[in-house]
Amino acid sequence: MGLAIVRLARASSDIEIVGGCAAAGDPALGRDLGGLSGTGALGVVLSEDVGSALLGADVVIDFSAPAAVPALLAQAMRQGTAVVSGTTGLGPDAERAFDKAAAVVPVLASPNTSLGVQILAELVEQAVRRLGADYDVEIVELHHRKKVDSPSGTAKRLAEAARKARPELRDLGGREGQVGARTDAELGMHAVRGGDVIGDHTVYLFGQGERLELTHRASNRDLFALGAIRAARFLSGRKPGRYGMSDVLGGS
Ligand SMILES: NC(=O)c1ccc[n+]([C@@H]2O[C@H](COP(=O)([O-])OP(=O)(O)OC[C@H]3O[C@@H](n4cnc5c(N)ncnc54)[C@H](O)[C@@H]3O)[C@@H](O)[C@H]2O)c1
Repeated sequence: MGLAIVRLARASSDIEIVGGCAAAGDPALGRDLGGLSGTGALGVVLSEDVGSALLGADVVIDFSAPAAVPALLAQAMRQGTAVVSGTTGLGPDAERAFDKAAAVVPVLASPNTSLGVQILAELVEQAVRRLGADYDVEIVELHHRKKVDSPSGTAKRLAEAARKARPELRDLGGREGQVGARTDAELGMHAVRGGDVIGDHTVYLFGQGERLELTHRASNRDLFALGAIRAARFLSGRKPGRYGMSDVLGGS
């Protein structure tokens, strides 16, 4: 993700890359970010020191690992750097750390920085609210054969969006055997795995005599990087606080 961000940020005339950080032992440490991303020499080398990577930065974009996030936030607070974090698998401690940092700098943490998925989540909430309890909600997600977790984080996020409108909905992973007829409060989650699918999500709303299918399809991973870059642009110069992808898109 870091290299996709470098590649796409270099194509934007309003963004300057001033530093990059990786974990101790990462074979890319000490190498030029431009060379690594295949965009030609940049004159910025990858460092394991967060502090020096953040020097001169208005915003840091983080796609790393949960263990890296607390130190990054502490450093961003010290240096007054806004933070966009796309790192997934964060626990409640990280949530508290984001809240603490948000008192000092602008912060946005999102496990899915795709702009299309944000809009899909908003559409799902609106559709579920307006169609009401007469419509059954089910989510089907497709991913490549190497994905290790199920359902996907995005599927869970879409289920949350449905639950904002109908709090009684309970996730139900797949169905097998004599499970009985569907109940009103269940929200079926189904994972399909195979090949090299980047990620498709469809939220179904089944009514009597009709069904609505709201679908997002990712065709490559650039969508996450582009959303994170747009979020970074949005955070630059904002006042401290917690922001979300819905703020970045505005108008909701
Ligand atoms: N928000 C989204 O939309 C989205 C999209 C894709 C991936 N992700 C998440 O982003 C994260 C990174 O994904 P990736 O595919 O780029 O992984 P990756 O393994 O290719 O890259 C991770 C990078 O983080 C660095 N890193 C790890 N620990 C560190 C530490 N302690 N200090 C400094 N740097 C550290 C590594 O050196 C490496 O450069 C994962 O959590 C992934 O789930 C989120």
